Amino acid sequence: MRTPVIAGNWKLFKKSAEALQLVEGLIPLVKGKSGVEIVVAPVFTVLDRVAKAISGTNIKLSAQDCYWEEEGAFTGEVSSGMLLDAGCSHVIIGHSERRQYFGETDATVNKKIKAALAAGLVAIFCIGETLEERESGRTFDVLGTQIKGGLSGIDSLQNVIVAYEPVWAIGTGKTASDAQAQEAHAFIRGEIAALYGADAAGKMRILYGGSVKPENVAGLISQPDIDGALVGGASLKADSFAALVNAA
Ligand code: PGA
Repeated sequence: MRTPVIAGNWKLFKKSAEALQLVEGLIPLVKGKSGVEIVVAPVFTVLDRVAKAISGTNIKLSAQDCYWEEEGAFTGEVSSGMLLDAGCSHVIIGHSERRQYFGETDATVNKKIKAALAAGLVAIFCIGETLEERESGRTFDVLGTQIKGGLSGIDSLQNVIVAYEPVWAIGTGKTASDAQAQEAHAFIRGEIAALYGADAAGKMRILYGGSVKPENVAGLISQPDIDGALVGGASLKADSFAALVNAA
């Protein structure tokens, strides 16, 4: 049995007052909910305050990125050990916005996943094809390359969660159909099986991301290879995020 995960990626939203208001609204709505891992990923500057607010609850804390070196002369970066120190248990790595706007590559994603795992964090490893890649029939090639590159040299996937986020579905209101998402998830699980064996593949949580909302979550997570969701827009309000958690 794979425990589903509902993770909220707050992106570049929510200063401290709004962040606290959001988690304080969320806590009672998901109180006592078990059998689902609930994760929120605020911006770096409010991690510490959100960590205190959710302490003792069933909500876990993630960052949205990390650097691969633990410390040193790397102005502006935050290391995975520092995230752990701030109260994080998870970190999102390789989100398509980081790949698109900040020069993230499979090689940097790989270094970041290794650093996160070494620090004891769970890495939420994001992959996904662009519209142009899908339309030219290269979806599986792209996913296969991202998986091999991102996981290169990593022996155990115990603390890795994969998030499949088709770039064309992120923030666009366009969701992959249940069948399109399931097809990609089954492919990803097959690649994991080829690289790590059937047992590791059977245990791997693979989340879908891209315009997930309360209205479409049930169809997606009822697919056999979809183990939850990485959610942007719908995670910014307590009621819609709680509706996703309660649907899982
Ligand atoms: P969205 O974002 O739910 O707003 O499409 C998902 C994500 O980027 O993780």
